[in-house]
Amino acid sequence: IPVQAFDLVIFGGTGDLAQRKILPALYRRHCAGQLPDTARIIGAARAELSRRDYQSLVRAALQAGDISAGKDAAGGQVDSFLARINYLAIDATEAEGWQTLAQTLGRPTADRVRVFYFSVGPALFAPLAEQIWAHDLADDQTRIVVEKPFGHDLASAKALNRTLASHFDESQIYRIDHYLGKETVQNLMAIRFGNMLFEPLWNSQYVDHIQVTVAETVGVEGRASYYDKSGAMRDMVQNHLMQLLCLIAMEPPAKFDPDAVRDEKLKVIRALEPVEPHHIVRGQYALAQEGAGGDEDQSYRETVGDPRSSTESYVALKAHISNWRWAGTPFYLRTGKRLVARSSVINVFFKDAPHSIFGADAGRHANLLTIRLQPDEGITLKVTIKEPGPGGMRLIDVPLDMSFAQALGADIDDAPDAYERLITDVIRGNQTLFMRGDEVEAAWAWTDPIIAGWTSRGDVPKPYDSGSTGPGDADLLMRRDQRDWQGINP
Ligand code: BG6
Repeated sequence: IPVQAFDLVIFGGTGDLAQRKILPALYRRHCAGQLPDTARIIGAARAELSRRDYQSLVRAALQAGDISAGKDAAGGQVDSFLARINYLAIDATEAEGWQTLAQTLGRPTADRVRVFYFSVGPALFAPLAEQIWAHDLADDQTRIVVEKPFGHDLASAKALNRTLASHFDESQIYRIDHYLGKETVQNLMAIRFGNMLFEPLWNSQYVDHIQVTVAETVGVEGRASYYDKSGAMRDMVQNHLMQLLCLIAMEPPAKFDPDAVRDEKLKVIRALEPVEPHHIVRGQYALAQEGAGGDEDQSYRETVGDPRSSTESYVALKAHISNWRWAGTPFYLRTGKRLVARSSVINVFFKDAPHSIFGADAGRHANLLTIRLQPDEGITLKVTIKEPGPGGMRLIDVPLDMSFAQALGADIDDAPDAYERLITDVIRGNQTLFMRGDEVEAAWAWTDPIIAGWTSRGDVPKPYDSGSTGPGDADLLMRRDQRDWQGINP
């Protein structure tokens, strides 16, 4: 179903995010027939480019992605997409260009959604918002989209929220966490609240512990200057992992409605206990030991060009949620770059049965629910059955395995990716999968003391080999609790 007519202005329209994510996402929705003919996309940036120059830039960006060639062969879609695209040279802090934008857009009208995508650094949020209002480009239906990093800590996030709130209502602000746009992340809610099977067991009485792993094989790549000031805690844990944790741990919202869902997520973050310093491990990738088979080209410190950098590219921690449902159930989170495999998985370990009627020889068996977010999206439930054969009542664990690709066939290939989903949600005016200001602040309030602790103790991350599963101390964190990590398989 096509979305409503819209005008989308992308500030930072020549930037990396626009080229890699936003424009390809719009292009794919265009190919899917979801953008109405009247929808307009306007790239805006400081560079003095003609419309034609910009269209060439967008064409190159689409060709650099993996999607354009096949679709275009199917029917000249790139040309019809480029025909929607305009470009205006605009400087957020100068008057120039704004008049032209005002002429192009006209006053907002009720029959056309207007979206300003702030794909720029946070320093430009205030000047952009001021210009937008000074030129009468917005009304109370206009939407703005902002990206992470949303602040660097609680104070800066609050300042950003204040800046945006002085120009726009919370209902107009769409803060993107692209993990929420991932099909399998939304599936977490479907699995929990669409089935009778899991929810009655989804608490500390039946769940022993939960592990969330987001492992990447990529390193810091071309983002050294941003990343070295952030580290994995700010780059991944404060946002993506916290969002996953919220969806796993939240109470059932009364309905699938933006504030109902976000209220429940917020309660989880607020119930998080401060993390004990000995319950967290930081790591930083080094060169792989010879023969280890990892990517051996550059260590973290070489990539960022600082031989003394103490920024972490890996974090593992144990969190506790102090509420009625989860008291006593540890949540282990870990994420890192340059690990042995790309794998985002949630493992829910259920407790052992309270009593074994099969005697001590049957061994210990417990159910494990694995939700694979990427790659090879799917669900596996480990169940205990009788080992076949005449050898008595011996038990073994076998997987009930479901891969989305197999179960859903071609449908899953056509599913929109995170940005496609999120951008169409903005146009539809659905904020469910966007972070509310108070959620972001609560996440920083939990993150800040952890980072402050590292700074005050002069903590240095533990080196780990590129291509490994992370620092040994992360295994010790588990071992001390008589547990093991699961979820990164080469
Ligand atoms: C981004 C982080 O938000 O998420 C990156 O800034 C990280 O450092 C990326 O690589 C991971 O996203 P995905 O979709 O590849 O899992």
